[in-house]
Amino acid sequence: MSQEVYQLCGTRSQLIVQVSDVAEIVYYGKRLQYKVSLTELAAIARAIPYGRLDVDVPVSLNPQLARGAFGSPGLEGHRNGLAWAPAFTLQEVKQEDTKLILASRDETAQLSLVVELELDSDDVLQMRQTLTNDGEQGYSVTRLANTLPLPARANEVLSYFGRWVKEFQQTRTLIEAGGYIQENRRGRTSHEHYPALMVGPQGFGEQNGEVWGAHLAWSGNHRMRVDVKADGRRVLQAEALYLPGEIYLQPAQSISTPTLYVSYSAGGLNGMSQQFHEHVRHAILGERLTKPRPVHLNTWEGIYFKHDPEYIKKMATAAAEIGVERFIVDDGWFKGRDDDTSSLGDWFIDKQKYPEGIHGLIEHVHGLGMEFGLWFEPEMINKQSDLYRAHPDWLLAVEGYDAPTGRHQYVLDLQQQEVFDYLFERLDSFLTNYPIDYIKWDMNREIVQPAHRDMASGIGQVEQYYRLVDKLVEKHPDVDIESCAAGGGRIDFEVLKRTHRFWASDNNDALERQQIQRGMSYFFPPEVMGSHIGAEHSHTTRRTHALGIRGLTAMLGHMGLELDPVTLNDEQKADYRHYVELHKTWRGLLHSGITYRLSLEDAKAQQGVMVLSEDQELGLVNITQTAMGTYSLSGVLRLPGLDPQASYRICVVDEPVGLHQIVNRQPTWMKESTVLTGEWLAEVGLAMPLMDPETALLFSLEKE
Ligand code: GLA
Repeated sequence: MSQEVYQLCGTRSQLIVQVSDVAEIVYYGKRLQYKVSLTELAAIARAIPYGRLDVDVPVSLNPQLARGAFGSPGLEGHRNGLAWAPAFTLQEVKQEDTKLILASRDETAQLSLVVELELDSDDVLQMRQTLTNDGEQGYSVTRLANTLPLPARANEVLSYFGRWVKEFQQTRTLIEAGGYIQENRRGRTSHEHYPALMVGPQGFGEQNGEVWGAHLAWSGNHRMRVDVKADGRRVLQAEALYLPGEIYLQPAQSISTPTLYVSYSAGGLNGMSQQFHEHVRHAILGERLTKPRPVHLNTWEGIYFKHDPEYIKKMATAAAEIGVERFIVDDGWFKGRDDDTSSLGDWFIDKQKYPEGIHGLIEHVHGLGMEFGLWFEPEMINKQSDLYRAHPDWLLAVEGYDAPTGRHQYVLDLQQQEVFDYLFERLDSFLTNYPIDYIKWDMNREIVQPAHRDMASGIGQVEQYYRLVDKLVEKHPDVDIESCAAGGGRIDFEVLKRTHRFWASDNNDALERQQIQRGMSYFFPPEVMGSHIGAEHSHTTRRTHALGIRGLTAMLGHMGLELDPVTLNDEQKADYRHYVELHKTWRGLLHSGITYRLSLEDAKAQQGVMVLSEDQELGLVNITQTAMGTYSLSGVLRLPGLDPQASYRICVVDEPVGLHQIVNRQPTWMKESTVLTGEWLAEVGLAMPLMDPETALLFSLEKE
C-alpha cells in the first residue's frame, strides 16, 4: 500500500496509525487539536544508525522477524516446519467511525491477519488480532500477540501480584533495559498474575503523570510483557498463552487474540481508571444493571456446610430485619456435600438436609421481600461423587497421569459435548424449576493439565466456559450471575460481559479489603465489586475489627453481609442495619459517580477514596486509618475533581466511636458546619483528624 495516515480520536486521547506495507501506531497519547497529515509524520521519521540493519524497522501491529524485528514477534507458528517466519503485507484498511480494520496477507506462507482497533469516546482502545490459515495444510500457532508501541519515556511499570485472600497487590518496576514479563499458567484469570498493567514515565501517580493502562480480557493463561528494545523504544504485548500443540489451524480456520483494552490518560491513574469505569458502564455492562445493586447476605461464613432449612429460614428473617435485599445459599446444599471432599458434580438437592426440597425456603425468602440466590461450581468434580462414578472419563486430564487435586477436586472437560450438555441441563433445570434470581458461579481450583482427548486445551476450556454461561444467560436473561473463583481468581472484562458482579476476595478483613479493593478499582467500578461485612473476628486473618471500619469498607463496593445474623442481638442488628441503610442512601452515587483514589500525606498509615457525582454536586469521602499515624499530626487532605468555583458543605457522615476522646481537639470542621470552595479543597485542603489504627471515617461534600 502507499503511505497513508489513519486516526482514531477519543474525547481526550488519539491514536495515529501510519500505513504502508505494514501498519504502525506512531502516536497514542493526548488528543491533538487538528487532523494530522503525512507532513507532520515526517518529523518523527527515525534515523537509521550504523551497525544494524540498513533499513528502518517499525514496531508494527504484528512485528515479524522476517521484516527485521528482533524483539518478541507478534506471531509464532509453522506448517510442518515451514512458513515459520511470515512477513505480512497490508492489503486493505477500512475505517468505520470509531474503528480501524487492517487486513494483511502473506502469500508465501498462505496466512492472513486482520487487526481491529477501536477507540471510543470513553477513551478506551480495544485491540484484537485474527489469524486465518489460507493454506491447504494445517498451521500450528505457538503465539499470537497484541502489540502496542509505547513511547520511550514510559519507563515504569505498575503491575499486580497476589494470592488467595490477598488479591490485587501492586508493585512498581523501573524498566531501563530488558523488560518486564508475566506469565499465567493457572488456567483461570488467577489471583497471582492479574492480566493488566499500567505503564508511564517514572513517578506517575493517582492525579499526575501520563499513564497507559492495559488489560487483557481473558480468563485463562496469558502472557504480558513490556520490552525495552536496544534502540530505546518500548513495546507492550499481551496474548493468551498457548500450551504446546494447543492451537492447530485447519485450512480456512482462524484464531483470535482476546481483546486488549488500553486507556491513556494525561491525568494520572485516576484519569485512566475513570475512563475504564465509564467504558465498563457503557460498553460492557450496558443496560444489564438496571436496578440498584441489592444488599446481599451470603450464608458461607455464617454456616459453612451446616445446612438446616429451618435455621436458614431464621437467617433469612434476621437478614431481612437488617435490611438485606438478596439472600444467597452458598455451598453445602447439594447431594452429599457435607465438606469440601465430595459431591461436586452432583447438582441435585440434598434430600437428607432438605427433605422438603428448597421451594419452601425460596418462598420464605421471597416472602420477606428478598431475592434468592444459589451457589454452584459447575466446572468441577470430586472423585467422591455419583457423577465421577458414572463418568470417570469426563475429567479434564491427560490419560496416564494423576495430576494433583486442588481443594480435593478435579475439573470437567467442557469440550466434551456430553459434559457441556449435562451441566447446562442441571443449571437450566434449577433456573427453570425454581424462582432463582441469582447464581454465585464459583471455580475453586487451578488447572494443571487442561486436556481434551489428551491434547492441550486450556483455550478451548475457557471458551467453553464462556459458551456455557452465554447459553444459560440467553435462556435466563433476568438472572444475575456473580463470578467467583476462590474469591478474586476470575475477575476480568471478558467474564463481565456475561456476569454482573465479582466476589473480590475470600478475605473479609476490612484492613486487607481496603488494599484489595483499591487494587481492583484501577479497572473496575464499585458496583461490580462484591464487598461484604464479615464477622467481628475475620475468618481469614483472625483479626478483630469494630463494625465501623467493616461497614465503611464494605459500603464502598456492592455491599453484602457474610455472617450468621441469627447470632446477633437486637442492638447489634440495629448497628448492622445502620451500615446497610448508609449504603442504600449512598449507593446511587457510589455506583454511578467518578472514583478518585486520594493521595494522602500520611500514605503509610492512611488510605482514602472519594466518589463524586458527574455533575460535581455531591461527593462522599472515605478515609481509613490503616496503621498508627506516622507523625503526631495526620497532615492535610486535598480533594481533586470538585468545581473550583462552587462552595461545598462538609458533613461527617460516620466516624469511629470515641473519636473525640482520643485527642485534646480534632479539627473543627468535624463538629462545626463548614463550607469551603472546591478551589480551596483542591489547593489548600482540610486538616485530617487523628484516628486510631484500623478505624474509618466517612464525610460528604454537598454543593451549596
Ligand atoms: C469459595 C468461595 C467462597 C465460598 C466457598 C464455598 O472459596 O470464594 O465464597 O463460596 O468457595 O465452598
